Amino acid sequence: MARILPLEAALEPALDLLEAGQVIAIPTETVYGLAADATNGEAVARIFETKGRPHFNPLIVHVCDMAMAETIAQFDETSRRLAESFWPGPLTLVLPLRDGHDIHPLVTAGLKTVALRMPIGFGRDVIARLHRPLAAPSANTSGRISPTNAKAVDDDLGAKIGLVVDGGATNIGVESTIVKVADDGVRILRPGGLTAEQIGDVLGLELGRGGGSGIEAPGMLASHYAPDAAVRLDASEVRQHEALLAFGPHRVTGAETATAMLNLSPTGDLGEAAANLYAHLKALDAVGASAIAVEPIPLDGLGEAINDRLRRAAAPRGDDILPE
Ligand code: TXA
Ligand code: MG
Repeated sequence: MARILPLEAALEPALDLLEAGQVIAIPTETVYGLAADATNGEAVARIFETKGRPHFNPLIVHVCDMAMAETIAQFDETSRRLAESFWPGPLTLVLPLRDGHDIHPLVTAGLKTVALRMPIGFGRDVIARLHRPLAAPSANTSGRISPTNAKAVDDDLGAKIGLVVDGGATNIGVESTIVKVADDGVRILRPGGLTAEQIGDVLGLELGRGGGSGIEAPGMLASHYAPDAAVRLDASEVRQHEALLAFGPHRVTGAETATAMLNLSPTGDLGEAAANLYAHLKALDAVGASAIAVEPIPLDGLGEAINDRLRRAAAPRGDDILPE
């Protein structure tokens, strides 16, 4: 069990541990992050070790303001506009590293680019006090469900880390949207808490999807966010021994026979569904059903990120990349 401290009591202990090169779990508006000083190689190595994360999968660097961001990366005009519109918030920008930056190469897995994000709340405060950026992936064992509350972090990684900062349940509930501006357009590498529509409105254009060739967001492995139970998507009925992850006011056939049922949003609100997604998956997994049947969820707005995470939760377990 880790020490769990409420926000009010956590700032100084968090700073002490980060200064000492330790990893701690912190709340953000998306999911809880496993944070360490991004300029300290040993600290960064501890993140990979704690999560069991493959080293080829680079981490997001979190900053507190534009001045810090500009010491790390070079901003093109479009990326700058996006940062101005959506930071702090659930947007991660992939940008070229700037000469003379002090991010440890383990963070970027040797790439010439870096994924940058300015979070809302405790993380931003702690970075401002530390005067150094934090590397922070989601605070879960690699491949498992991301945590949206302090208890979920403690259940998974509590034995391996010294401190979990408890900021309550996260508002958004799915990870940040990762965007890369390239010569051939603006692409979403990972759908997330900021919708394609919101980004498109600011830029006045349609967004591409995926990284083109290769693994541009290398964390986008097919099997990810995986509960122990199998996950069956777009279910039109509940089968024997299945639990049901419901959405909206209308139930599929056989819902009353489900081992357990949780509704992501009884009114069909996608924001509410995103916020509940990981906690509901985890709770249904805990009832020991053979599979979790998932009712269809619309693809618009936050539905894109929700469906993306559910597809990965449902994918055969292995290291394959999902076709786009
Ligand atoms: O909401 C979030 O983004 C959370 C909170 C804690 O900030 N963090 C998060 O980090 O989801 P993580 O490590 O679980 O996901 C980082 C993703 C991975 O898919 C990784 O491959 C991608 O970002 N990534 C990191 N650096 C990259 C780069 N230079 N180019 C492309 N993708 C990159
Ligand atoms: Mg993650």
